[in-house]
Amino acid sequence: MKDLFDTPDSLDAPRDVVARDAFSREVMAENAVLLRGKALAFETDVLAALNAIIARAPFRRMITPGGFIMSVAMTNCGAAGWITDRTGYRYGRLDPDSGLPWPALPDCFVDLAGAAAREAGYPDFVPDACLINRYEPGARLSLHQDKNERDLSEPIVSVSLGLPATFQFGGLTRTAPVGRYVLRHGDVAVWGGRSRLCYHGVTALKDGEHEKLGRMRLNLTFRRAL
Ligand code: SIN
Ligand code: FE2
Repeated sequence: MKDLFDTPDSLDAPRDVVARDAFSREVMAENAVLLRGKALAFETDVLAALNAIIARAPFRRMITPGGFIMSVAMTNCGAAGWITDRTGYRYGRLDPDSGLPWPALPDCFVDLAGAAAREAGYPDFVPDACLINRYEPGARLSLHQDKNERDLSEPIVSVSLGLPATFQFGGLTRTAPVGRYVLRHGDVAVWGGRSRLCYHGVTALKDGEHEKLGRMRLNLTFRRAL
């Protein structure tokens, strides 16, 4: 299979990482932070591992319990994967498309999630599930809570790759005020504690071309699901 992310690094490619406040930390809410550029040190390994995962468990657009086809395409790796169909939202140990277990969590994924969680104040976080979202131009994810995980004392670690997106981070009710944050390639959001059940979403992806990933955004969401 042709690699999805095999764009070679050009020596004179423009880099905006230094110009913007790379590696800064922003507080979105109590117990919710943005770690700018935190994933960049893991980038090469993470993109290679993603190619291998996608070859075994391709992206697919799932159906919500209400019968809508999601605009975001998804796949998973880890002991369990987040799935939705007409019967509901849940975690499953098998990929429903192949009937096989989801691909294992690569070491570099566990290392990245652990390093980000540690920096955000969750030193013991060990993910067992990673939902991988693919946004193409126009794809969006409406405000929702992550609440299918068994132990809500464990945080969520969310890694952005590819095209920039506007992330909405609100409060504990759907109607609470919502903050908007542009998430770029390499940014990591971590939320837990008093923010663990905050509503969040992603507005429709603007078209563009990312140097490494092309016309898409990927998001890796690490959870302790089981
Ligand atoms: C999610 O809430 O599952 C994904 C968030 C994102 O794509 O940044
Ligand atoms: Fe979510």
